[in-house]
Amino acid sequence: MKKFSIFLVAILMIALVLTGCGGNQSSSGKGTKTIGIAMPTKSSERWVKDGKNMVKQLEKLGYKTDLQYAEDVVENQVSQIENMITKGVDALVIASIDGEALTDVVDQAKKQGIPVISYDRLIMNTENVDYYVTFDNFKVGVLQGQYIEEKLGLKEGKGPFNIELFAGSPDDNNAYFFWDGAMSILKPYIDSGKLVVKSGQTEFKQGATLRWDGMKAQERMDNLLSAHYSNDLIDVVYSPFDGISRGVISSLKSVGYGSADKPMPIVTGQDAELSSIKSIIAGEQTQTVFKDTRKLAESAVKIVDDVLNEKKPEVNDTKTYDNGKKIVPSVLLEPVSIDIDNYKQELVDTGYYSEDELK
Ligand code: GAL
Repeated sequence: MKKFSIFLVAILMIALVLTGCGGNQSSSGKGTKTIGIAMPTKSSERWVKDGKNMVKQLEKLGYKTDLQYAEDVVENQVSQIENMITKGVDALVIASIDGEALTDVVDQAKKQGIPVISYDRLIMNTENVDYYVTFDNFKVGVLQGQYIEEKLGLKEGKGPFNIELFAGSPDDNNAYFFWDGAMSILKPYIDSGKLVVKSGQTEFKQGATLRWDGMKAQERMDNLLSAHYSNDLIDVVYSPFDGISRGVISSLKSVGYGSADKPMPIVTGQDAELSSIKSIIAGEQTQTVFKDTRKLAESAVKIVDDVLNEKKPEVNDTKTYDNGKKIVPSVLLEPVSIDIDNYKQELVDTGYYSEDELK
């Protein structure tokens, strides 16, 4: 019996070492360090690409990874992160579902000495986020707004044009940046009557799309079209994200847009998702904003590696991202506006997509 218990204890100890439950103390080099990566959902291609890029680049540097997706269920994300903390990951990289819902779990991480990097979306209301890597989110909105301005010739005094406005998820800090960036360009034209919002829905909360859900956007677009556009055509839809744009386009197609007498309005987007680039090629979606997930992963990995090697990471913004408790030092990358004229150069020539994938 005694021999059996010793045997059991030995097996347990081996299992603990193998699963990394020995905690941070057992880490002696990169090969033994594990990075927990919490991503929001696989339902949007971009996060799948983000996850793959993070894993690939971390593994290249010799780190182990624990990548989890929470399918947009906040409680799942919280428990996934709790598990990572219990398992003793060495650093956490988190793209939140609800930026306001992670205060407690991030505070727990801090207590265990685990550095936390906010990935693409800012974690709010906690001192315990160490760094933030993202794109210049205000500029994303500006690029979308400027695209509309240019395509319609608003600067040259053309108009009026009919436009409807969609916003992102109200629990995602980024959504407000995109909206404010876009409105910095569009609002003067709305005020002067060159852009007409027939629904009158010009506030962020009226256009907001919980969890960036394309189905919800489609429903809202159906309602807008039947209530305000039965005798008039819509010229532009401001959409902040490709998933929303695709929902909007389905709705437009269902009432005949995309034909000679009912041309597709200008529809903006963001993320250069594969299905949206195909849609741009097919002449449906008009524009998107490319945020290279390879570069985002590179920046996040660099920060993780610096922090774990006690180097001070380089940031390029220490003013913009106030999470309610602190201004989080950030790395902001440059977004690029994409349409039919430059998708090849930006996406195919750089190897982000192959010609075959776009067929
Ligand atoms: C935002 C992100 C966008 C888009 C959106 C929906 O936080 O910055 O690029 O992906 O979420 O997933």
